[in-house]
Amino acid sequence: MSSAVLVAGGAGYIGSHVSKALAEAGFTPVCFDTLEKGHDWAVKWGPLERGDIGDSQRLDEVFARHRPKAIVHLAGYIEVGESVREPERYMLNNVTKTQPLIDAAVRHGVEAFVFSSSCAVYGLPQTDLLAETHRIAPLSPYAESKARVEQALEKAASAGLRSASLRYFNAAGADSGGEIGEAHVPETHLLPLAADAALGLGPSLTVLGTDYPTSDGSCIRDFIHVSDLADAHVRALGWLKRRTGNGVHECFNLGSGTGYSVRQAVAETARIAGRPVPHQVGPRRPGDSPKLVGDISKSASELGWRPTRDLAAQIDDTLRWRRTMPR
Ligand SMILES: NC(=O)c1ccc[n+]([C@@H]2O[C@H](COP(=O)([O-])OP(=O)(O)OC[C@H]3O[C@@H](n4cnc5c(N)ncnc54)[C@H](O)[C@@H]3O)[C@@H](O)[C@H]2O)c1
Repeated sequence: MSSAVLVAGGAGYIGSHVSKALAEAGFTPVCFDTLEKGHDWAVKWGPLERGDIGDSQRLDEVFARHRPKAIVHLAGYIEVGESVREPERYMLNNVTKTQPLIDAAVRHGVEAFVFSSSCAVYGLPQTDLLAETHRIAPLSPYAESKARVEQALEKAASAGLRSASLRYFNAAGADSGGEIGEAHVPETHLLPLAADAALGLGPSLTVLGTDYPTSDGSCIRDFIHVSDLADAHVRALGWLKRRTGNGVHECFNLGSGTGYSVRQAVAETARIAGRPVPHQVGPRRPGDSPKLVGDISKSASELGWRPTRDLAAQIDDTLRWRRTMPR
């Protein structure tokens, strides 16, 4: 495989950590990003090519220049609540614009295509732990957009494309070397908001819903360190490379396998920060599932992947990053 990997969305939170992991594994990550949401300071391990995944001509130029034999596709909009308010924008950017990227992959003979999917595709859990075989029942346009791209990749497998959809649970933490971290504007994720509130760097946190059918009424989530996620992408590329012959599309859960309630994560942030996390209770956010915790046995057995950094490590890295990050 050529050492170049096209990382669509590589200037974003997870994409920048994936780029670092790829570089450490000997690949050259070529960041392909509009920079609408990402940051040029986060592109450190390879060239930056500005462009939109929906722009076939621009994709062809970048393919001609770097000849990547693999794609990691993380580009897209990411906010569940926003997707409920603006579903068409999410379908356009996340689904319609992914097709030209898939077509380019087929046209240029890409050998491995890894897609950032989400545990949100499962919707309301029918089992305690969600396995990849759980029914797909999206509760939001965001989740629907992920399910549709998975279907498009399934279809592309018959055209010979080898792909993996990685269903992330809640990405959290930051590079332990302090080089990169989460810098969404606006930030909607729990741990950075809780860290900012504790450190006096942001407003008090709102816990979105305390009337869910869970032990303390807040949502239960499965937090996974972003560097563990990044490592799984390198493994998924290797797994796809080892698959010879016809196209394939396979889904893998990437979580820790352990659930924490929002209230527990807030309490843990306060404990580790050594300061209270100012917070209040707000209404549920439309589109949120009460509980999302992954069964990660397939990723362990097939990819040889295991998470290595627990919630405390994720919070510790988040606190360190929020103190020093560019704002
Ligand atoms: N953060 C999580 O917990 C989580 C969980 C599940 C799935 N995901 C998925 O992982 C991926 C990355 O998430 P993130 O948190 O790093 O988000 P992010 O917003 O930090 O990164 C996304 C990047 O994609 C770029 N982008 C968006 N639309 C584009 C387009 N049309 N063409 C080119 N670039 C475009 C943005 O500029 C940004 O740099 C997303 O697809 C997201 O849905 C994230």
